[in-house]
Amino acid sequence: MTLITEVRLRRVLDSRGNPTVEAELRTDDGGFGRGAAPSGASTGDHEAVERPAGEAITRARELAVPRLEGQVYAGDQRGVDNTLRAADGTDDFSEIGANSAVAISMAAAKAAADVLGAPLYQHLGGAFRGREFPVPLGNVVGGGEHAADATHIQEFLAAPVGAPSVTDAAFANARVHGAVGDILEERGVAAAKGDEGAWAPAVDDATALEIVDEAVDAVADEVGFEIGIGLDVAAAELFDDGAYHYGDETRTPDEQVDYVAELVDEYGLVYVEDPLDEDDFEGFAELTGRIGSETLVCGDDLFVTDADRIERGVEAGAGNSVLVKPNQIGTLSDAFDAIELAVASGYDPVVSHRSGETEDTTIAHLAVATDAPFIKTGTVGGERTAKLNELIRIEANA
Ligand code: PGA
Ligand code: ZN
Repeated sequence: MTLITEVRLRRVLDSRGNPTVEAELRTDDGGFGRGAAPSGASTGDHEAVERPAGEAITRARELAVPRLEGQVYAGDQRGVDNTLRAADGTDDFSEIGANSAVAISMAAAKAAADVLGAPLYQHLGGAFRGREFPVPLGNVVGGGEHAADATHIQEFLAAPVGAPSVTDAAFANARVHGAVGDILEERGVAAAKGDEGAWAPAVDDATALEIVDEAVDAVADEVGFEIGIGLDVAAAELFDDGAYHYGDETRTPDEQVDYVAELVDEYGLVYVEDPLDEDDFEGFAELTGRIGSETLVCGDDLFVTDADRIERGVEAGAGNSVLVKPNQIGTLSDAFDAIELAVASGYDPVVSHRSGETEDTTIAHLAVATDAPFIKTGTVGGERTAKLNELIRIEANA
């Protein structure tokens, strides 16, 4: 059962219009699964390697597909993922590309679920999943690598921590996004949207926080539950020559720790991602010591969904939360292991999209399958709402 009979790879468009890898996988018992790789813009230095889509497809066809077809069962996810690793032969998927690897890994999981006739989250997480839903962290204003001439901090996120359901939370985030648009209009600030659909106004970070604070308060009053604010500083993108550069303003690492701690106090932030450079485990530990009891301090570029780096962080006391992006590490098995390691270490996992996305909904299922407390998947835009609507459907059918 679920013996893989065919793996097809092709180039499809991602949300930025760039080519990305899509995999389609068939099994001997009629199973079919399709997966497409997302792609980052503010990628961490320690991520698995994404190759140009055409190259990744050629290499995967040559090295991985012959080892899968007729030999491995789609239902044996670790078997599929171990085969991808063996076929690649490197530590970072630089031969077949993490984009080919993750697309095939996700397609296999979906084909196995298809044969079972079960939703993907049940195949991945078991019969007892589907009762806990993640809080969606919704990017409503942003800049950094995701938009030109906008904020220095990459993402300002609505965090509807008091929402009674994932459906209520998703709609609340969309309302915050709308409210931010209204406030920008009232202030006469023109704003395009960044890669994740967040508003990308040419305002400074303090103004952006003020606007998001106002929008979040207004929507929280309307919906009647608590909505907090989160940030993804994506500080590795600001860090150069030993200091953090916010346009003309510069902060030393110590000043950066103070700055973020002050923002947490001032705005009651519930979530801060990548507040420091991607190799600064010590700085993360210092900041976590100061504010970790009040807020989540999440490592994205710091941990890159990699068990070894998470272990190093846990030993150092760096952060208390782990961002999980399957394409950062290359397979669903590795992403699953990163989540389990985070939970076992007392760290909150946050399953995440990338700035370049497709209609693929695997991360929604991964979050439900692992009872992850949070998911980052944007607020508006079809490739973002694809995941949110999938969560709404899972909740409605649970
Ligand atoms: P990326 O950004 O997908 O461009 O890396 C998302 C993030 O930093 O969380
Ligand atoms: Zn990030």
